[in-house]
Order: sequence, then C-alpha cells, then structure tokens
Amino acid sequence: MEKKQSRESWSSNFGFMMAAIGSAVGLGNLWGFPYKMGANGGFAFLVLYLLLVVFAGYILVMTELSLGRATQRSIIPAYRVASDGKVTFIGILSALAPFFILGFYCYLGGYAVKYTIANLGDIFNAGFGVNGLDGTSFFVALYENQWMSAAYTAVFMLATIIIVSRGVGEGIEKFNKVAMPGLFIVLLIVVVRSCTLPGAGAGVAFMLKPDLTVFQGGGWVHVLASAGGQMFFSVSLGMGILVTYGSYMQKTDDIAKSGMMIPLADTVIALLAGLAIMPAVFAFGMEPAAGPGLLFMTLQNVFNSMGGAGAFFGFLFYLLVSIAALTSSMSVLEAIISSFIDSGIESGKGNQRKKIAWIAGAMTFVMGMIVAFDGLGTYLPPMFGRFCWLDGFDLLAEGVLMPVAAFCTVIYFGWFKKGFLQAEIKSSSAFATEKFYTVCLRYVAPVFCFFILLGQLDSFFGFGWF
Ligand code: PFF
Repeated sequence: MEKKQSRESWSSNFGFMMAAIGSAVGLGNLWGFPYKMGANGGFAFLVLYLLLVVFAGYILVMTELSLGRATQRSIIPAYRVASDGKVTFIGILSALAPFFILGFYCYLGGYAVKYTIANLGDIFNAGFGVNGLDGTSFFVALYENQWMSAAYTAVFMLATIIIVSRGVGEGIEKFNKVAMPGLFIVLLIVVVRSCTLPGAGAGVAFMLKPDLTVFQGGGWVHVLASAGGQMFFSVSLGMGILVTYGSYMQKTDDIAKSGMMIPLADTVIALLAGLAIMPAVFAFGMEPAAGPGLLFMTLQNVFNSMGGAGAFFGFLFYLLVSIAALTSSMSVLEAIISSFIDSGIESGKGNQRKKIAWIAGAMTFVMGMIVAFDGLGTYLPPMFGRFCWLDGFDLLAEGVLMPVAAFCTVIYFGWFKKGFLQAEIKSSSAFATEKFYTVCLRYVAPVFCFFILLGQLDSFFGFGWF
C-alpha cells in the first residue's frame, strides 16, 4: 500500500533548484560543451551560446516551469488542462522523448560507473583496474563485451529507479541537495589540478581563443546550429522535465528568478567542465575529441599519463561524471512516470509512485539493453538502416521530438493562449522581464526552435544544408 494519496511537492526552493540544476548538468556539459566551444570559434562560440541562453533558453525554461506550476500537473495532463484538450498532443510528443533518452543515457551512465570503479581499482593496484591499458583499448573492450555493458547499464538504471521511487522530496530532492554541492566541489578540485599542469595554457587557449574564421561564409549558420542543439540538450528542454519539476513548485516560489538561475548555473558548470578537461588533454599532448571518445578514451589516457596521482584524479573525475549523469537520468525517469502518477491520483487510485517507477523503469530497461547489446553498432543491424541504436534513439529524441515539442509549445502559448503563463509567473514574482519574455516567446523562440530542428536533422543525416 502506498502511503501518499495526493500529489507531491518540493520541500524547499533550494531543493527544487538543486534538482533542476542537477537535471541540466550532465553528460552534455562534460563532453559536449568544451569540445564544441573549442572547435567552433572559442570565445566567439561562447558569446553566441550566451545569446541563445538569454533569448531562447531562458524563455523556454520559464515557459515549462510556469506551465507545470499553473496546472499542477505533469507533461501530458499539463498540456491537456492548460488548453482544454486542444494541444494534448504536444504533451504526448514531449513525453515520448524521455523514453529514448533514458535508454542511451543509462548505458553511458553505466560506463561512467565502470570507469569510476576501474580508477578506484588502480588506486589500490587491484585486478579490476584499468591497469595501464590505453583508453581506446579499454573502451573498445568494454563496448564489445555485451554482458558487461548490460550489467553496468542495469546498475545505473537500478540506482535511478530506486531514488525516483522514493519520491520527489524523499528521493530526488534529498539526493540532489547533497550531490550537487558535492559535484561542484569535486569539479573545482579537478579544475585546479588540470589548470596547474605544465602546458595547461594550450587547452585554455583552445577553448577560449576567439576565432572568427569559423563564422566566415555560411559558417556562422553551422556554429549557430551547433550551439543551439547543445543548449537545448544541456538545459534539458523540450521533454517536459521542467514542466514536471515546475508542477512540484510551491505557489510562492519565484519562477522568474529560478528561470534565470537554471540556465546560468548550467552554463557556468559547462565552462568549468571545459577548464577541467581541455587543459589536461593539451598538457599531455593529446587531441581533443567529441562525445564519448573524449570522456572514455582521451581522458582515460590523460589519467594514465598522470603517474601516481592519475588514478586518484581519474576516480574523482568519473565519480563526478557518474553523479552528474545520475541527477539527469532521475529527472528523465520522473518526467516519464509523473503523468501516470497524476492519472492514478485523478482516477482515485492514489499515488502509485513505486509501482509506476518500477514498471516504467522496466520498459526503459529494455531500451537500455538494446543499446548495450548493440555495442555501438558492432552487433545489431543499424537503426533506420544507418545508425547505431544509441544514435538512432538520440536522433528520435534530440533531433525530432524535443525541438518539435518546444516549437509547438512556444507557438501555442505565444499566439493562442496569450498571457496564461505570464499570469502564473507574475503571481509570485516581480517579473521585470515580462515584455522581453513575451516578445521572445512569440517571435524569437519559434524561429530558434525551428532552426534547431533543421540543424539537428542536418547534423544527423549530413544533408549539408548548413
Ligand atoms: N541535460 C542533461 C545533460 O546535459 O547531460 C541531459 C538531459 C537530461 C537531456 C534531461 C535531456 C533531458 F531531458
């Protein structure tokens, strides 16, 4: 028997903020941002990214949070209630994306756990350590070992389910309130170590040096698409997570302030992640890579090259990655289950959180297993005839569902349900930015979301549009 019969909420604004920032800060910050910034114009990319954060990220964060809080419902019922059933389909689109994301996110989170344990093993010279194997061989051996990959995916998914099944305040909030400040401290330690290595300056230069040549010709469109896609994923937009988290906010919480803090904190941590990673990569004369290659191959080589202290810093770093991934994956699972919890409550069955968390967890577990057994395209036939299953799931979520859902959301609330969200924000905030918000919601954010959709499709299919 479940004890709680009604909807849950955050126990404090601090707890909510830690959970929302925990959702935003994840693998996207650690492997996406530093590399993309370095490869796309450094400081120039940063300026563009910040503009996107202000003109679109901030707008979408405010939109999702206020929709959740106004309706006190999670994704699907939130859209249904706010539109009297007219745009429930947007809720359904948003709610599908987390299934795909969670499938591959838990697989990668599982790898972060594996690397944490392996580096811990190295500290004690244990048999389960990396044992000097180079990063690439270690990574290839891991993804070619389907059962090992499946086991770590399962461990990570279990951790996600257990925390989420404990509840909003008792599970997600409690974990984030400890994990996020902890993550920040560990990140600062790694930044200091990385930036004080001899030769670290080249990494800082790679990230920050303003290179305007990338904007020449049509180049700026490409940079804009890359920065936009990155921001979308990094701030966790377009899949109802912030609608869900907003629905647990207190009616007195300041949405306008939270709406600024979440993307700001996410960006600061992404920059710090860059300062933790790039100086070390360059100090050891390595080439920065994109995506999983940076995290699981290049960086392991860095730790291997650091001598005695390498295992310790490797352990700290991968622990940080594991925690960042876990606080993100729990938000994704919460977004999936909260609609079902709400409909249980509405139909008088009470809050069936535990049961629903385990059932939804089991469903996404199947997705995770497909990714694990595919071995990054080694074993299963390609999805849509051309993608490994990880990329295929990513395409469906990040490339299609998220930008389409966000586009429809800003169109509906900007043009058809005018003033609805603004009223909710004003009910508890001074909302000095109301005019700015409204103009961006109507004119800037739709263009931006449409553009992201094109940019994503282009980068997945290589159409060469940009
Ligand atoms: N924002 C997370 C990251 O940067 O890794 C990942 C993520 C979480 C993406 C939740 C999307 C999402 F809905």
